[in-house]
Amino acid sequence: MTDKLIIFDTTLRDGEQSPGASMTREEKIRIAKVLERMKVDIIEAGFPIASPGDFESVKAVADSIKDSTVCGLARALDKDIDRAGEALKGANSSRIHTFIATSPIHMEKKLRMTPDQVIEQAVAAVKRARQHTDNVEFSPEDAGRSELDFLCRVIEAVIDAGASTINIPDTVGYNIPHQFGQLIHNLLEKIPNSDKAVFSVHCHNDLGLAVANSLSAVLQGARQVECTINGLGERAGNAALEEVVMAVRTRQDVFSCDSSLDTTQIVPASRVVAGITGFPVQPNKAIVGANAFAHESGIHQDGVLKNRETYEIMLAEDVGWKENHIILGKHSGRNALKSRLKDLGIEFKSEESLNQAFARFKELADKKHEIFDDDLQALVSETVSAKHEHIKLVSLKVCSETGETPMASLHLMVDGKEKSASSRGSGPVDAAFKAIESIVNSEAELKLYSVNNITSGTDAQGDVTVRLEQSDRIVNGQGADTDIVIASARSYINALNKLIQANERAHPQL
Ligand code: KIV
Ligand code: ZN
Repeated sequence: MTDKLIIFDTTLRDGEQSPGASMTREEKIRIAKVLERMKVDIIEAGFPIASPGDFESVKAVADSIKDSTVCGLARALDKDIDRAGEALKGANSSRIHTFIATSPIHMEKKLRMTPDQVIEQAVAAVKRARQHTDNVEFSPEDAGRSELDFLCRVIEAVIDAGASTINIPDTVGYNIPHQFGQLIHNLLEKIPNSDKAVFSVHCHNDLGLAVANSLSAVLQGARQVECTINGLGERAGNAALEEVVMAVRTRQDVFSCDSSLDTTQIVPASRVVAGITGFPVQPNKAIVGANAFAHESGIHQDGVLKNRETYEIMLAEDVGWKENHIILGKHSGRNALKSRLKDLGIEFKSEESLNQAFARFKELADKKHEIFDDDLQALVSETVSAKHEHIKLVSLKVCSETGETPMASLHLMVDGKEKSASSRGSGPVDAAFKAIESIVNSEAELKLYSVNNITSGTDAQGDVTVRLEQSDRIVNGQGADTDIVIASARSYINALNKLIQANERAHPQL
């Protein structure tokens, strides 16, 4: 008999802890909808106590998701738990995830608490969370470096207090697969009431072992894996959802469990998350990288033509590498756009937003013959972020010629007032950024500039990511256009807008 492997996605919480990956409420809802379509069991939507914006985002996800359980993170503190309970009130199905550190170094140096105090606080937190929902998850943070006997004591006590999921985090990505698997085995064996809870794992990728550690734990009886789309997450990230899910699905000869995910939604989800967060996917990334199913060598191509199983262990279409529909062109109307967006799970709340998206669509269709789903996703991102913009690009002109210093002249709308500037630079993009800076004076430091094409062909839109840092805050800006200098200016402006909006947030693990 095959057990169910529960998939707990934390892209919106741990994924958002990647520097610069913070998402707006609308962006979180868009990602949550994609996860729901994929049939993810649990969506961790955020850390409600972190800021009013985080609270509102978790609430909005809880209110709009119907088929997945929505989870909120809370430290083992009454105020965190009550805030999470409040944010999740509107959910069809909710979970509170509470945690406290259990490793000697965290208890002594970070918490300054004795092991007995930690157990007491953990039990009190689970009881408090049970006042809000029956579905409570407890994590002993840094379990991967905790002492086994102490872990067993804490876990036995929190199961008695009402936790139905016990999540074992390798918080610092320190474990090695056989050792982590053994840890799960030992916990299941030694804890007298372990059969009263589902055991889960949450692995970080500091040594590149997050997926391997998660799978090793599944082989030893873990039945929930916490993971993120594209492996996003704190530092080197979390276990990548697509890799865990496809490893288990592909190797049913090895695993006695399987998830119930619709894997054809994996590639679309990966694209949406990459587009929103500004973390592009490397081409050789397993499952979702552009080369994951591309065969370069003649021998491989020949083999695949004769029988695809010679070199392919999965079907590209099973993970969503289907035709990226050519959907619309310059003669398509507003209803055609609306209906395709609906197929992609995107519905604008107001007619005004749809009209703005349609205007942008028409502009794009004038420059580009065929408009693909990925173009539409970029267009939606821009339409949604445009609503919150303090700074808008009105027009941009660049002059670039061999032997001459490039020059950019532009007009911006800053809080409703039109401003203009010109600047020279080492290239047209540099000139445009300098012209923007001469108006805005943000003094933000440019940490990353990258251009990717959204679809193929020379008329493809360039998708530009700009990462800016200003007083310890890091944001990623996104901009797309068939003209990459315009895309770059949009991306820079998008990052500046995010810096203006960024509010101070508490980090769950500090
Ligand atoms: O990595 C970690 O320990 C976490 C916990 C909050 C589960 O993210
Ligand atoms: Zn984590």
